[in-house]
Amino acid sequence: MVDLRAQYEKLSPEIDSAIKSVIDSTAFIKGPDVKLFEEELQKYMGVRHVISCANGTDALQLAVRVLGLNPGDEIITTNFTFIATAEVVALLGLKLVLVDPDPGTFNISVEAIRKAITPKTRAIVPVHLFGQCADMESIMELAKLNNLFVIEDAAQATGADYFFSDGSVKKAGTIGHIGTTSFFPSKNLGCYGDGGALYTNDDNFAKKLRSIANHGMKVRYHYDDIGVNSRLDTIQAAILRVKLKHLSRFNETRQAVADFYDEAFAGCLPVIVPERSKYSSHIFHQYTIKVRNSKRDELKKYLESLKIPSMVYYPGPLHMQEAYRHLGYGENDFPVTKELCSKVLSLPMHPDMEQDQLDLITSSILKFFDNSI
Ligand SMILES: Cc1ncc(COP(=O)(O)O)c(C=O)c1O
Repeated sequence: MVDLRAQYEKLSPEIDSAIKSVIDSTAFIKGPDVKLFEEELQKYMGVRHVISCANGTDALQLAVRVLGLNPGDEIITTNFTFIATAEVVALLGLKLVLVDPDPGTFNISVEAIRKAITPKTRAIVPVHLFGQCADMESIMELAKLNNLFVIEDAAQATGADYFFSDGSVKKAGTIGHIGTTSFFPSKNLGCYGDGGALYTNDDNFAKKLRSIANHGMKVRYHYDDIGVNSRLDTIQAAILRVKLKHLSRFNETRQAVADFYDEAFAGCLPVIVPERSKYSSHIFHQYTIKVRNSKRDELKKYLESLKIPSMVYYPGPLHMQEAYRHLGYGENDFPVTKELCSKVLSLPMHPDMEQDQLDLITSSILKFFDNSI
């Protein structure tokens, strides 16, 4: 699905020297590269604060913690996401309220959020799924009207732009009260292990987040908050500094790959290509098609037989997972999620795809449908 080896080979002189310089300095924890990476990412994102941490799940957990909510307070998020988004809400003893996504963009439905708001709702967590922003302008309006916090899970959308109706543009993750991201190796901006970060324009949140991520310490050996140890390793920060310089180019190449897929499938009725919204750029963390006529699993098997990878993100709705049965949802409470789980298929997508790979993938899919209809 991704080719991390090909990417490393192209960047190896820069990456190797960045890693070597950290080893030479022995500044493995909180070395200069961590601060420099935060400053460079802050500039790229156009946000006041970037706080790095150990991974994207920690980033979400820190973001929810810093809101200072009480047990029983409700947080609304999408049922069609990676488990981490929902997991941290449950882990912190808050009430997880799941809602359906929009069937076209796969992102949280604003109408569904509106219907789920109760007097106990405190926050909304939109996820910019597969590399395209959720409808943030409407979500922020709804949040303002109901006095709610917004935490954006931007793990899959580093570099995506949101276009406001007044013409202004902001990066995914910098619109809500707090944004979070992951530097998992396969992400658009990925390191060589685990890593994550938080974005905020709020000075108080930034101070508190920095403190909680570092054992609750503001001044050395003085603990104002009960914290955790969630730091980005210096070696990962050094790698991310190299990769950040190439991020815009990587994202543009992903868009060119997506354009090729779109064009190839234009006349193929059983394949529905990913919808592109007018309010967001799409940086294609995943290129996810919907397959009509219950042929998804058959297509996946056929591709497998040709050694072409494909993945189902996500095969089962969160509310039906064993760990979340206690929420009390019924099997058919989320018709859109249910339908998407049975139809979506993500195709190989990364910035180092070769034309012959793209030709093989698209011609194989077209051939499958020629023969199967
Ligand atoms: C939408 C989303 N949120 C959160 C995470 C968690 O990130 P991490 O794996 O770095 O903890 C991921 C990634 O894996 C993700 O895709």
